[in-house]
Amino acid sequence: MALTQADVAAAAQRLRDDGYGFWLASNRAVLDRLAPAGIDVSALDVLAPAEREWRIADLMRVYNVLNATAFGDKGIPLQNWVMIDLGLLPSAFLLITLTAGRAAAAMTDPRLSAAQRTRVARVLSAVLAEAQRLGHRGPIPVAGYCAAPTPSPGAWVGWSLCSAIPGLGTVAKGVALRAYDAATVTGVAQFPDPALRVHRKFGRMRVLAAVLELHPVPHTMVYRTDVFEDDACAPPPTALLPAHDGAAQATLQERIDAGAEVYVLPPGLDGDRVPILERG
Ligand SMILES: CC(C)(COP(=O)(O)OP(=O)(O)OC[C@H]1O[C@@H](n2cnc3c(N)ncnc32)[C@H](O)[C@@H]1OP(=O)(O)O)[C@@H](O)C(=O)NCCC(=O)NCCS
Repeated sequence: MALTQADVAAAAQRLRDDGYGFWLASNRAVLDRLAPAGIDVSALDVLAPAEREWRIADLMRVYNVLNATAFGDKGIPLQNWVMIDLGLLPSAFLLITLTAGRAAAAMTDPRLSAAQRTRVARVLSAVLAEAQRLGHRGPIPVAGYCAAPTPSPGAWVGWSLCSAIPGLGTVAKGVALRAYDAATVTGVAQFPDPALRVHRKFGRMRVLAAVLELHPVPHTMVYRTDVFEDDACAPPPTALLPAHDGAAQATLQERIDAGAEVYVLPPGLDGDRVPILERG
């Protein structure tokens, strides 16, 4: 089942009750048009005069390190100017934060597996080091997401999803999509990437391109989700696409070029296979 708007609101509330903060970082003209109904999110206007004891610029610098460290070996960190020109000015970043003390404690959270703790510690130690370097005394970003608007109302293009603590990625994307009131979200992802499981939670997911040769990361595809559109009644998969098989993806692209409609079915990535529904 795809997530519902109520699921996202409930998950956000649970995190708020657990001490997490939710912020939309942008500028007044955009912030005035965004409201995730029923979810308590604080607005940050990067163009307004400073009105708190910490600087929004420092928060975003720390977010930049979170993003770059989380993306790690993929080698496609968010550039500072992209964050400003394509994120903070035309759109808004949804940030989930913790206090510095809570972020430090998350690195040794006994509820995480050893592998998860290693990853959390790798990302958050870089994030906290940047906060310390800047003398940043405000909230520490631990997850975030941004999408860019397009000329079609309700149609957004998502990017920059990152999370240091398991459980936050889906909520960050979900709250942001609600804030934008997105009807569709187009995005770029890799077939073998577990992030596909996050993206597939938001509803029917059509593959617009099974191969995006221009992209530097192998096995990159382009998808478009009908946000919160449940397709639990979809027929079973017509194929299980091997996530690392470029030849199979090229063949799928040929069928898309010939007019086939191709969808990724839940859970998005299953082992090293992606369940596919092909029509036409
Ligand atoms: C992808 C990312 C945002 C996920 O964040 P997260 O907080 O772990 O996400 P969630 O806890 O909400 O995970 C949701 C699903 O993804 C799966 N998942 C996420 N990361 C995973 C990983 N490294 N390995 C296995 N499964 C993973 C979870 O198991 C869960 O699936 P399930 O509920 O069907 O079991 C995070 O790993 C990240 O920052 N990655 C680097 C940046 C990146 O690649 N962004 C995506 C670009 S397309």
